[in-house]
Amino acid sequence: MLHPRNTGVLEHPDAEATVINPQCGDSTTLYLKIAAGAVAQVRWHSEACGMSLAAISIASDLIRGMPLAQLRHITRHDIEQAMGGLTPAKQHCAILAADAVKAALRSYDARIPGA
Ligand code: FES
Repeated sequence: MLHPRNTGVLEHPDAEATVINPQCGDSTTLYLKIAAGAVAQVRWHSEACGMSLAAISIASDLIRGMPLAQLRHITRHDIEQAMGGLTPAKQHCAILAADAVKAALRSYDARIPGA
């Protein structure tokens, strides 16, 4: 949270999505560049709680270089595990990060059907 990784904006991303948690209003935008069937670059920015910043930061490290076939199976549990676990009250912060990955994949699939 204090040293977020992969922050910023990607120009001309292959996938981009903004997700919002309707209960707390926190939001995250995720950008991906895809090359050779894998995540070549990842950037994100959030207006969110500290735990959400930590979750998307760790998720961005987790998915960098990941093949799309594997990326399609990323869950909040994978992100939570990479974080070393979350209390029940903060698990929705990992859900926001996982939702950002899923929404970015949907935007990629919409742009490049059958990818
Ligand atoms: Fe809203 Fe963390 S408190 S996502």
